[in-house]
Amino acid sequence: MNIIIVGPPGAGKGTQAKLICNEYNLTQLSTGDILRENYRQGTMLGKEAAKYWSVGGLVPDDIMINLIRQEMKKPVPGNGYIFDGFPRTVAQALSLRDIFDELTLSLTAVIVLDVDFNELIKRLSARRTCTKCGKTYHMMFNPPKVEGICDLDNEPLCQREDDKPAAIENRLKVFKDQTLPLEKFFEDEGKAQHVPGMLGIDEVYAHIKNILDKCK
Ligand code: AP5
Repeated sequence: MNIIIVGPPGAGKGTQAKLICNEYNLTQLSTGDILRENYRQGTMLGKEAAKYWSVGGLVPDDIMINLIRQEMKKPVPGNGYIFDGFPRTVAQALSLRDIFDELTLSLTAVIVLDVDFNELIKRLSARRTCTKCGKTYHMMFNPPKVEGICDLDNEPLCQREDDKPAAIENRLKVFKDQTLPLEKFFEDEGKAQHVPGMLGIDEVYAHIKNILDKCK
């Protein structure tokens, strides 16, 4: 089973990808998480990519396609992949199709999370992330048990650099210009399955599960 989850910044891709991963035993390929981890480790890729993501822009396609190609060469456990944050442009989708052909994989479904822009701003500006394990919270909708502290490892929570107002504004503009055409691409391919992402986390997941159970 190979699933792509698409949606604007803050739509809940990462939140839902983790739930899907656990239930269907998939490997999550979150390009945002991989880039942030590279940055923390001080790699060349991490430093180069941070020039783009820290201000809300997209990292160039060639860097991202190469990154995914390398990740997919690694042996992984489980029943397939969930792609969270990749592809994000039509060029990336076309390259992913080539990689699938090379590896004789097939695409099971593309989940598209639909969320209004006003709601996205609320979600992003109050998101907090664990500095150690990367688990995300929302100060109102999904708070930790103890304010400012991760439930899993008691480490402090922080705000992502690109969740500050100027970067959020840029990310939403970039989404409209560069990622919305990707949704149309998957619709034309008959793969896009729209899910009402404005609902609560569990309700959104129930919609996704309903779709994925039919694909098993
Ligand atoms: P990435 O980390 O992928 O950022 P993003 O796409 O902007 O998505 P987010 O992680 O911000 O949000 P999400 O949809 O995962 O929502 P979440 O579940 O956290 O990428 C970061 C950057 O890396 C990009 O801007 C780009 O520069 C670069 N990059 C990455 N991939 C790239 C690529 N392929 N090409 C080029 N550049 C690339 O939820 C958000 C908040 O809302 C949380 O607080 C959560 O608790 C809360 N929440 C979630 N669901 C709900 C709900 N249903 N109701 C209420 N609250 C909810």
